Amino acid sequence: MLLEVENLTKKFGGLIAVDDVFLEIRKETITGLIGPNGSGKTTLLNCINGFYVPENGTIRYKDKLIQGMKPHQIANAGIGRTFQVPRIFKRMTIIENLMAPVLDSELPDSSLREKALEYLERVNMAELKDSLGDELSGGQQKLLEYVRLLMFDPDMVLLDEPFSGVHPVLKSMFHNEILRLREMGKTFILVSHDLVSVYTLSEEIIVLDLGKVIARGKPEDIKYDDRVIEAYLGR
Ligand SMILES: Nc1ncnc2c1ncn2[C@@H]1O[C@H](COP(=O)(O)OP(=O)(O)OP(=O)(O)O)[C@@H](O)[C@H]1O
Ligand SMILES: [Mg+2]
Repeated sequence: MLLEVENLTKKFGGLIAVDDVFLEIRKETITGLIGPNGSGKTTLLNCINGFYVPENGTIRYKDKLIQGMKPHQIANAGIGRTFQVPRIFKRMTIIENLMAPVLDSELPDSSLREKALEYLERVNMAELKDSLGDELSGGQQKLLEYVRLLMFDPDMVLLDEPFSGVHPVLKSMFHNEILRLREMGKTFILVSHDLVSVYTLSEEIIVLDLGKVIARGKPEDIKYDDRVIEAYLGR
């Protein structure tokens, strides 16, 4: 397994946001993580990438315990992520946004720039390279974050609501990008309320409700699972 999460629990005061969660993620897969608002999806990603230290449980990446490590150490170990609310540098140009996280890389600036431009082209944003972060639309910010994370070349990618506000045409291109990178050996956890995208892209889906895994399985099984429908419709 590439990533193994066991007995993971994260609390905020009296609230159990992630409740005894188990996950096993194989290399070169796309796992959908779905569930109603407040079910613990973002908190689970925050535990995996080191933003939160869980109260209980273990997280192993490539057979190494990573919980307790700092976010930048986990990023260096090969886990990249995007945020539900994009965190881009608003006063920097798009190309600077892409270069910023890799400035200490051994690669020369020119090849980093080339890589950044190539990725921008892939998401149809090459003309925006000299625009400021501020000038991007919501959907463009989502795409920029995704492209920025690829600059690190992570093996595992955690995506938190990547498609929200992204135009349908760009969205299907984004789907293809994710599938292409999976073919190239990358592994994804995809958090999204866009269930059609999740059902289309994922080979396995995990459903959270009130911090607990209430169902897991193939898209065709999850789609019609009564527990899942009930969780979404409200109790
Ligand atoms: N930093 C925090 N401090 C206190 N409570 C928090 C914090 N972050 C999340 N929570 C709570 O933990 C629970 C899980 O929140 P989380 O953001 O993980 O849900 P989510 O599944 O990502 O929801 P959404 O689909 O709305 O993004 C919620 O009840 C939320 O209010
Ligand atoms: Mg969330």
